[in-house]
Amino acid sequence: MLGDLSGLRDRILADLAAASTLEALEALRVSALGKKGSLTAAFSALRDLSPEDKRAAGQEVNAVKLVIEDALAVRSQILNDQALQEQIKAQTLDMTLPPVAMGLGRRHPLSRTLDDIVALFARQGFVLHHGPDVEDDEHNFGALNFPAHHPARQMHDTFYVDQRDANGQPMLLRTHTSCVQIHALKGATLPARILAAGRTYRCDSDQTHTPMFHQVEGVVIEDGITMGHLRGCLETFLANFFERDRVDIRFRPSYFPFTEPSAEVDIRCRRDANGIVIGEGDDWLEVLGCGMIHPHVLTACGLDATRHQGFAFGLGVERLAMLKYGISDLRMFFQNDGRWLGHYGFVG
Ligand code: PHE
Repeated sequence: MLGDLSGLRDRILADLAAASTLEALEALRVSALGKKGSLTAAFSALRDLSPEDKRAAGQEVNAVKLVIEDALAVRSQILNDQALQEQIKAQTLDMTLPPVAMGLGRRHPLSRTLDDIVALFARQGFVLHHGPDVEDDEHNFGALNFPAHHPARQMHDTFYVDQRDANGQPMLLRTHTSCVQIHALKGATLPARILAAGRTYRCDSDQTHTPMFHQVEGVVIEDGITMGHLRGCLETFLANFFERDRVDIRFRPSYFPFTEPSAEVDIRCRRDANGIVIGEGDDWLEVLGCGMIHPHVLTACGLDATRHQGFAFGLGVERLAMLKYGISDLRMFFQNDGRWLGHYGFVG
């Protein structure tokens, strides 16, 4: 017997509308459409009808089934939305609160090192400048005296992006912070002490290289500036950074297209069973690159290279942080392992 089909439909619809949880809704679905469900029973009852009646009654039951399925879908959507809203309301984590002040989390050793380096150079009168991470060829290479096709470009393992600059050259992720000096020097008032700090990128990844790393760059343009001033500036910074009275440094001749002469700077150190001790011993460790700014760079920035002179240096923040805090694997900086951050991170 089919019974009162529209009565059954209205009862089920009323129950669905009243269901207040997803579990209750599922129970109603089973009680209507499950194996032993009330509507399934109506389908079974079709068996007892004559073929003529079966057709019309079958259509009726089917129509009721569709109405109920629709109602189920609508109610399920509403209850899911409600559940999500409640979950969001229950999540009271305020991402804008400072976690360190709340005793949660730590400052990453790289953030701390970067801030310390900037603060130490600020004491020597350097002013922080910023440039974009996505650069054009002219700022990253051209104005820094890397002619087109110069082999020094290949040393940089550049990441190119799918975008072109005004000259039709592909844009790139800056391979060093030296490009910020071009931005800063164009239209600078002299004398100038310029500092740049931030992310740099090279397509290189192994135990001592990560595709993204951090550099700090310093540039000084002042009358009568010499390599002696450069040396003094770096010695002062390195002694302060490593918290020593003094650290011996040594200049080794090197090559960068944007400086002439160029040097790599080594710092005195001693290697023992516990790692590296800075400022003592007879070993040397390379820590940065530097030189006197090449006249072509000054000219590219609109400065008169016959009148102005300056120096520049660039250092790797990861390397200095590793040396200072005895961190042996560069890749740990970027894995964000809570235990590692708990050990090497800073409170405050
Ligand atoms: N830009 C150089 C590098 O990334 C470092 C450097 C900066 C060297 C400034 C000299 C002067 O290797």
